[in-house]
Amino acid sequence: MSVLKFAWEPLLIALIRSCGILVAGVVIAPPPVQVGNEVVPVEISAWRKTNPAGWDINSQIEKRDGELPVALVNAFQSSSWIWTTETDPPNAPALDRAFRSTFISPVGKVATSAIILLSVDDRFSFYVNGNLVGTSPTTPDNWKNAHVYIVTLAPTTNVFAIRGTNLPDVNIGGPSPAGVLAAIQVNFSDGLTSLLSSSGGWRATKVIPDGFESPSFNDSQWDPASPLFKYGEGPWLTDVVLPTGAVPTIALPVPASSTSMTQSTAIPTITNNTTSGAHEPVGAIIGGVIGGIIVLLLVVLVYLWRKRRPRYIRGVKHLNTLIHHKV
Ligand SMILES: *[C@@H]1O[C@H](CO)[C@@H](O)[C@H](O)[C@H]1NC(C)=O
Ligand SMILES: *[C@@H]1O[C@H](CO)[C@@H](O)[C@H](O)[C@H]1NC(C)=O
Ligand SMILES: *[C@@H]1O[C@H](CO)[C@@H](O)[C@H](O)[C@H]1NC(C)=O
Ligand SMILES: *[C@@H]1O[C@H](CO)[C@@H](O)[C@H](O)[C@H]1NC(C)=O
Repeated sequence: MSVLKFAWEPLLIALIRSCGILVAGVVIAPPPVQVGNEVVPVEISAWRKTNPAGWDINSQIEKRDGELPVALVNAFQSSSWIWTTETDPPNAPALDRAFRSTFISPVGKVATSAIILLSVDDRFSFYVNGNLVGTSPTTPDNWKNAHVYIVTLAPTTNVFAIRGTNLPDVNIGGPSPAGVLAAIQVNFSDGLTSLLSSSGGWRATKVIPDGFESPSFNDSQWDPASPLFKYGEGPWLTDVVLPTGAVPTIALPVPASSTSMTQSTAIPTITNNTTSGAHEPVGAIIGGVIGGIIVLLLVVLVYLWRKRRPRYIRGVKHLNTLIHHKV
């Protein structure tokens, strides 16, 4: 698995920083490191920094299964809670409402999968292309826990649908705050991604027809969903906790009528925060390649040099800020 081994020298880090790049995708495993009395192997994997300005070793070296994409979390935490249009928002009657968003891949793009972050006050059933993907638990204040799903997508047209249930106010019954907060990162076959969120492109209905979740359902008569508050504002504040842990990919059947079109097309945003580098200026790519070769040579040199000397641990204090210990 590990391609290169070397001591994680502060000098090397400084060099990598000044080059502004790191050998993309290479997992670098330095020698074991002493932690207390134990000598443990460490693994470092390098991830491309979300900031197009370059790499940041400190913030991006990490290796955690099930980590949520930064862009997805940003989109989730900056999107708006939505619901149907009600008389006293964000309060709504204790009833079910339905929501749909149809995502059409930009020309030339082939959607492969999506990762979805979702929170609903109070309960939900979530469908992709007519398939039930998840339902909320029935615990109180379930909206405080965002749910994550990874699903396979159809190449061109994909329909995300939610049945949301608002429960009566816990103290006095009757209307209570209701909202849907969602962000979806669509993966394309070329490695680029699009982000959509509850902030735009969703339609909503108070009367829920049978088959509302189906890709072939025509939602053109539904109203646009009403934005209530941006995440962080309103009754929900910043109380939604993100999920952790690995997420299984749910393989969905490709819809029979994957050419069907409805009106609520989400506007795709091609972001720069992907792993493909297709949006990098040419200069940055050339600079990156040259920098990468220099760094690789240095890595090999440092490795060879260290192999000839008795092994001892240096820079452990520095290391601790950079590494993920594997016990
Ligand atoms: C992409 O990264 C930049 C810089 O880190 C950030 O400001 C921006 O919000 C990110 N875009 C998305 C869609 O998350
Ligand atoms: C998106 O694609 C990348 C590789 O192109 C893959 O590593 C990643 O797991 C995919 N994400 C999802 C949510 O499937
Ligand atoms: C959806 O319904 C509207 C009218 O209700 C109609 O104009 C439109 O053509 C329909 N779309 C499809 C794809 O059938
Ligand atoms: C992507 O990067 C280009 C150039 O680096 C910049 O002009 C553009 O605004 C960026 N787009 C996003 C969504 O960050």
